[in-house]
Amino acid sequence: MIRERIEELRRQLDLHNFKYYVENAPEISDFEFDTMMCELQDLEREHPEYADPNSPSVRVGSDLTAEFATVRHRYPMLSLGNTYSLEELHEFIERIEREAGQTDYVCELKFDGTAISLTYENGCLLRAVTRGDGVAGDDVTANVRTVRSVPLRLRGNDWPPYFEIRGEILMPYASFDRLNAEREANGEALFANPRNAAAGTLKQQASAVVARRGLDCTLYQLAGDNLPFKTHWESLQKAREWGFKVSDRMRICHSVPEIDDFIRYWDTARHELPFPTDGVVIKVNDFAVRRQLGFTAKAPKWAVAYKFKAEQALTRIDSISFQVGRTGAITPVANLEPVLLAGTTVRRATLHNAEQMALLDIRPGDWVYVEKGGEIIPKITGVDLSQRPADSLPFSYITHCPECGTPLVRYEGEAKHYCPNQSGCRPQIIGRIIHFIRRKALDIEGLGEETVELLYDNSLVRTVADLYDLRAEQLSPLPRLGEKSAENIIRSIEHSKEVPFARVLFGLGIRFVGETTAKYLAEHFRTLDAVMQATREELVEADEVGERIADAIREYFADETNLDIIRRLRAAGLQFEAAARELASEALAGKSFVVSGRFSRSRDEMKALIEAHGGKNLAAVSGSVDYIVAGEKMGPAKLKKAEKLGIRILSEEEFFRMIGGSGAPAAAEEEPDPETAATQTGTPVPKAEEAEPRQGELF
Ligand code: IVH
Repeated sequence: MIRERIEELRRQLDLHNFKYYVENAPEISDFEFDTMMCELQDLEREHPEYADPNSPSVRVGSDLTAEFATVRHRYPMLSLGNTYSLEELHEFIERIEREAGQTDYVCELKFDGTAISLTYENGCLLRAVTRGDGVAGDDVTANVRTVRSVPLRLRGNDWPPYFEIRGEILMPYASFDRLNAEREANGEALFANPRNAAAGTLKQQASAVVARRGLDCTLYQLAGDNLPFKTHWESLQKAREWGFKVSDRMRICHSVPEIDDFIRYWDTARHELPFPTDGVVIKVNDFAVRRQLGFTAKAPKWAVAYKFKAEQALTRIDSISFQVGRTGAITPVANLEPVLLAGTTVRRATLHNAEQMALLDIRPGDWVYVEKGGEIIPKITGVDLSQRPADSLPFSYITHCPECGTPLVRYEGEAKHYCPNQSGCRPQIIGRIIHFIRRKALDIEGLGEETVELLYDNSLVRTVADLYDLRAEQLSPLPRLGEKSAENIIRSIEHSKEVPFARVLFGLGIRFVGETTAKYLAEHFRTLDAVMQATREELVEADEVGERIADAIREYFADETNLDIIRRLRAAGLQFEAAARELASEALAGKSFVVSGRFSRSRDEMKALIEAHGGKNLAAVSGSVDYIVAGEKMGPAKLKKAEKLGIRILSEEEFFRMIGGSGAPAAAEEEPDPETAATQTGTPVPKAEEAEPRQGELF
């Protein structure tokens, strides 16, 4: 019964996922979808025996981390020859037709994301691998499973039992803008363009982060042995039937003028698309002709990419201004004479930093070329020197903060200048308070940006700790406030004392500690005291924390002003400890484990699973260890010691069986060979490993 219900929910959720993300035609409300998803997740939690790596519930992702195994491509992932010139494109077509006679072409958009190869076995997603060096790539299956438009199970039943399909993981502009806005608010570096953001996201350690970032996936090429198709067009139509997202912005062209038309049309129309493209790919349609043409060392001779030129406009810099961020970072901005570029009016362009400005020798009053390449924020790519006034002088970068007059500093390895006056520079102080009250941090309603400025300018707050000393009668006389809103503000400040520790930690505004990092830190260290006392080495043990973040954390807690704020926040009653964890099961209660070697998922993830099921992790092999979970390449000395102490050694599979199979590695279908059980990993599937890449079968 339960099993049937689970299957039914999975089938329904798969169907509605497809309708929503592939066909863009949802049939049920988000609420109905979420209700079904909740029911499925509950049932799966209660019945780990029915776990399935391709269940639609995996789309939510996991907070656990993944290291990526390298997988050899069964068919190499080649690149394409490319050109910016129609003339060269025509020569390419002529060369093909000289060899193969008149033939048809499929023109497609060239999607500007990151290439992915998906392998399906018996209609189920088996593996997703990045391009890597073309011969081998990273296994990013866990992350790709969270991309809603990637089918986990195919529709219909006429798919080949084993095949690969290739395409592009894309970040639509809407997701990109949202992501960068979030990163900016966290003081994190912005992604330069959706392509980098898509590639960076795919290499994220935690699939739950990937799940939230709104990636999309468009497929454009099948690969396999003896695929039953004569043409590329036919293969893509079939792929669409099987549930893949295949672009409908493609066309069969019979001649050069038709190809030119397609290019000309999309060179303009692409600006209306919700995702980035950087050209058109022209491919021979007929597989027999493709085979006849073959490959060069790097690329097929039957396809070529025509790349769009970035759109440029010429305009004048009216003035240069400087923004001071919450972290004190200074960003120079060019205020431009408004100009139309790629469909939008551009008024400002970032100048990045002093070095970048000096490199281009940018001066106020200059006529400059503004470009919108893959980047959303327009950039200045050059100066039209012929229009530079004779009396123009080189621009000297500011030496003092435009807001508070403090001499600027530059930190090692950082391109930007900083205003170091953290406790006295208005935009920094206000920026920090605004960050603190954000919805994702302390969520203090009624206190918007303007009110914070008002409080600051009336000397009511100087730090976030001052918020907790505010009284309604101090607020109500302020302009635009009144008694009612004053009371509301005080009430929501009071409520913020219940906000969980992870969000408080995020709200402190430690450099580079975004929402996710704060979550991991809270999860790993459990209390603020533990974070404050952690050494650099201990900090980097937490997921997502690298040395740069560790240093920023240490620096934050070394500052007396910050420590004083923390003391006051603690006294006010904010949550400085994580709430107790809920256990997934008690299967490992009372048992101690050492995790060693490499697994199909990261060691941190394995450790988290041990804790989630009531077990305890120990760092070293000793008499008090009950089990060693042994992965690939476990140190022989450790193994020997364990054997000597008579500790039971578990393979990854045995371990997963102990916890009821939940989260077992996708590829672990066979019983582990007892000889090699200790080194079994379950990840690289032999098929992909054994095969030498072949060239002739990209059809
Ligand atoms: S076909 C052997 N079709 O462009 C050729 N590639 O510059 C297989 N790309 O690595 C690729 N849109 O990541 C093909 N419609 C499209 C594409 C496309 C984007 C990317 C792909 C490839 C790169 C080559």
